[in-house]
Amino acid sequence: MKIRGKTAVVTGASSGLGRAIALSLARGGADVALVARREDLLRELAQEVEALGRRCLVVPTDVADAARVRSASQAIVNEVGTPDILVNSAGVAVWKPFLEISDAEHEAMMNVNFWGAYHWIRCLLPAMKERGSGRIINISAGTGKIGLPVTSGFSASKFALTGLSEALHREFLGTGLHVSCVHPGNIRTDFWDERTVPKQGLPALVRFSPKMSPRAVARDVVFFCVRLGVPVRTLPVFVALLTKVNALSIRAGDLMLWKWFFPLLLLVVALALL
Ligand SMILES: NC(=O)c1ccc[n+]([C@@H]2O[C@H](COP(=O)([O-])OP(=O)(O)OC[C@H]3O[C@@H](n4cnc5c(N)ncnc54)[C@H](OP(=O)(O)O)[C@@H]3O)[C@@H](O)[C@H]2O)c1
Repeated sequence: MKIRGKTAVVTGASSGLGRAIALSLARGGADVALVARREDLLRELAQEVEALGRRCLVVPTDVADAARVRSASQAIVNEVGTPDILVNSAGVAVWKPFLEISDAEHEAMMNVNFWGAYHWIRCLLPAMKERGSGRIINISAGTGKIGLPVTSGFSASKFALTGLSEALHREFLGTGLHVSCVHPGNIRTDFWDERTVPKQGLPALVRFSPKMSPRAVARDVVFFCVRLGVPVRTLPVFVALLTKVNALSIRAGDLMLWKWFFPLLLLVVALALL
């Protein structure tokens, strides 16, 4: 899909990856509707988008609130018509061992990471389907393919989003509507708050692996998922290999996560493939 002249909705646009994706789309020539709760940050971003010569709507919304999403999506459609691109990047994480995390914390992750994306898709997909074109891009995580300690609620919510994305990709195959799921490893954003990420529990391989810049991930998402419509993007290469090995055998995944030899071997293979 060409981006110039298209309209996009980006959730989680007030910071991190969502913000970078919104800017990347605007640079490519799209008008964007910015969704998150912190209106001041959305307004700052809107000025940057408008400085690029694109139209921008600021739509402060809690994505976990289905009624608010319904009215927000209606307001966007009334203002700019049916969007061509929906990027669900809003997400939250609580890093705690399963027995220490509360029901409310588990529910909050499910409500934003899974239901938040679900509500936007429910609202916008019927008109996209009728038009016979569009892109829906859900930002899951590496942990939406590989379960890790101290991420039970986060992993569960992202696995749910992964399943929804894959099912919708197949349901709309050949219709002109492409549904993609993105599985990033560590990105340098507020999400990796050193005060809240636990010092123990997460495999060192995950905790200390290099963090990608949000701008680089945004460029990748826009190129592969928006322009080309690929259904799954896992990055960096190392996480893609890790999730593939884990899908073949959980035991091999254990070895990779907890023993250094296997990740190093894989790194060598990955470098050889590059
Ligand atoms: N950073 C990583 O290492 C990493 C790795 C894998 C996956 N991810 C995923 O990437 C996505 C973007 O995360 P990030 O790294 O950019 O983190 P971030 O900087 O913390 O951004 C999270 C965004 O989600 C929004 N958000 C949270 N709760 C919301 C709610 N109830 N309603 C509306 N918006 C809400 C936040 O905006 P407001 O607070 O203004 O509402 C913010 O814009 C998330 O889905 C995350 O799970 C990140």
